[in-house]
Amino acid sequence: MTIANELQSTIGQMVQLGKGILAADESQPTIAKRFASIHVEATAEMCRSYRSLLFTAPGIEDYISGVIEFEATLAQIDNDGTALPKVLASRGIVPGVKVDQGKGPLPLSPGDFITYGLDGLEERLQRYKNQGVRFAKWREVYKISKENPSVLGIAANSEMLARYAAACQGVGIVPIVEPEVLMDGDHSLARCAEVTEAVQKEVFHALHRHHVALEYIILKPNMILPGKDHPVKASTEKIAEATLRVLLRTVPAAVPSINFLSGGISPEEATLNLNTLNAKFPKAPWLLSFSYGRALQKPVLQVWQGRAENTVAAQQALLKRARLNGAAQRGEYLAAMESSE
Ligand code: 13P
Repeated sequence: MTIANELQSTIGQMVQLGKGILAADESQPTIAKRFASIHVEATAEMCRSYRSLLFTAPGIEDYISGVIEFEATLAQIDNDGTALPKVLASRGIVPGVKVDQGKGPLPLSPGDFITYGLDGLEERLQRYKNQGVRFAKWREVYKISKENPSVLGIAANSEMLARYAAACQGVGIVPIVEPEVLMDGDHSLARCAEVTEAVQKEVFHALHRHHVALEYIILKPNMILPGKDHPVKASTEKIAEATLRVLLRTVPAAVPSINFLSGGISPEEATLNLNTLNAKFPKAPWLLSFSYGRALQKPVLQVWQGRAENTVAAQQALLKRARLNGAAQRGEYLAAMESSE
């Protein structure tokens, strides 16, 4: 199979009506934070058994086409001894992996971040591919303030995303390109729109410079929202309109799918906003779907509580959120489905 055929076949399997992506790629410090919310210690065994619970949840393959794993999870096994990427693949779910190595301050550019992990990336990608991985994720983070992200911050982050995406496509791995403009702060929705537009313009410019084929990427952006400390909450219609406007201005129609991150909004809001987007704009040039972490997993953690006897109920909680987000991808979600499920 040529590399282009390989990329196309992965995209074909990942980009499907009524389906989205489960982000289960929390790094060790992040999963420890999530587990702390239910007073569970993030030991290696607890993390393994939690991920095994997620990946073996019956029925999720009807709504989940891909799962992003954390590197350490690739080598772990489910309760029956099968490697976790294999568990996913055998259910028709494409296994992926987070390949960036976290973020830190961008030197000499106060308030800007930069993500690590380009050194040795090609070798790592080859190794992950041998473990069954067919797509990857890389996240760049932009915090909004009066001065940030700076022009340099936007340019440097775009360059990293584009180099990562080119490295992935070079070995036949589909890159998820994730420029996340954070919700932290008291900025307005208009300011989020302004920053996200500037960021995405630069990201696509860099992807073009680095010869990345847009047909074989998935964009994972934030929705356009007011900062979480902004005094005025925006309606789901306003959010959908502003989000679509920014996407239309910045994302070429060659991109097959836009899978939003949830970024800290509640599971119900994440589902409602995705539904409003699809219900209001059924003719958008890309699939509009989800790649949620917290918005899919929060209810699962609440039910699980780290106890083996809660596994089945926790898997049902995951299936419920996957099914409702699948409906939202089709623009067929109703708030009443939350209680009737
Ligand atoms: P959230 O949906 O919790 O924002 O996570 C998505 C993700 O993968 C962030 O990189």
